[in-house]
Amino acid sequence: MKHDRLHKSVDAYLKLHNSSTPARLDFVQSVTGFILALFIMGHILFEATILISKDAMYAMTRFFEGYYFFGETYPGIISFLAAAIFIILIVHTLAALRKFPSNYRQYSIFRKHSAEFRHNDTTLWLWQVITGFMMFFLASVHLYMMMTNPGDIGPFASADRIVSGWMWPLYLVLLISVVLHTFIGLYRLALKWGWFEGKKPKESRKVMKKIMIAAIVFYIGIGLAALGAYIVIGIEHSDKVGARYHPTEGGQQ
Ligand code: HEM
Repeated sequence: MKHDRLHKSVDAYLKLHNSSTPARLDFVQSVTGFILALFIMGHILFEATILISKDAMYAMTRFFEGYYFFGETYPGIISFLAAAIFIILIVHTLAALRKFPSNYRQYSIFRKHSAEFRHNDTTLWLWQVITGFMMFFLASVHLYMMMTNPGDIGPFASADRIVSGWMWPLYLVLLISVVLHTFIGLYRLALKWGWFEGKKPKESRKVMKKIMIAAIVFYIGIGLAALGAYIVIGIEHSDKVGARYHPTEGGQQ
């Protein structure tokens, strides 16, 4: 009873003051989530250039430092990018957290009433919460490091941080969390806004789920392979920590 009254007064308050705020925040959450998803899909591929060669990863680093535009490197570009991503991440988290209590209530009700809840998309929402919570801490550590040490990126600098700087356990958990969160998030986003619904929504939902699983497997696979490559380089380089990579013939010095 008390609850009902509270609900009614909250509704009345929202109607009176700004009834479009929840919808607007929902939209903000979707847009920021979509930007972050695009970023991470690029990020994992860029950083996996180490699988091609050390020179390829070195050239990619110089590209992001603006070398091919300005003829000089400006690591400040990386700091700026990291700060921008940090802000988008904070906005996204705030918009998502706001919905947590009511979504959790729906989830508990659903669980009570459905023995088959495991097979439902509702379970995916729980995965979003768990992985999102982990990233709260892990992504903050990583982003802060990138923001404050933008010049320390490269085949040896990154591998040293991963092995000698003990970042590999954090990256391992972050990789799995971010890939699950990204693709479950995109799948839910597609359902929510009715993208690719087509004439047979049930069928297209099945196809989308398959694409989601394939993308998760692909990105975790490539991320793990890259992490493994950095670990091998980091172990080989562990007696020369701090020494920088110099490209071989053909690489641009
Ligand atoms: C502009 C912002 C960012 C920059 C410049 C950046 C840069 C890098 C670099 C250079 C590495 C290679 C390892 C190292 O040098 O320490 C790396 C690894 C990684 N980053 Fe980021 N990152 C950014 C944002 C993010 C965000 C927002 C996430 C996830 C929420 C993320 C997740 C990861 C993961 C999981 C790895 C390890 C990848 C693997 O295991 O293959 N990064 N990042």
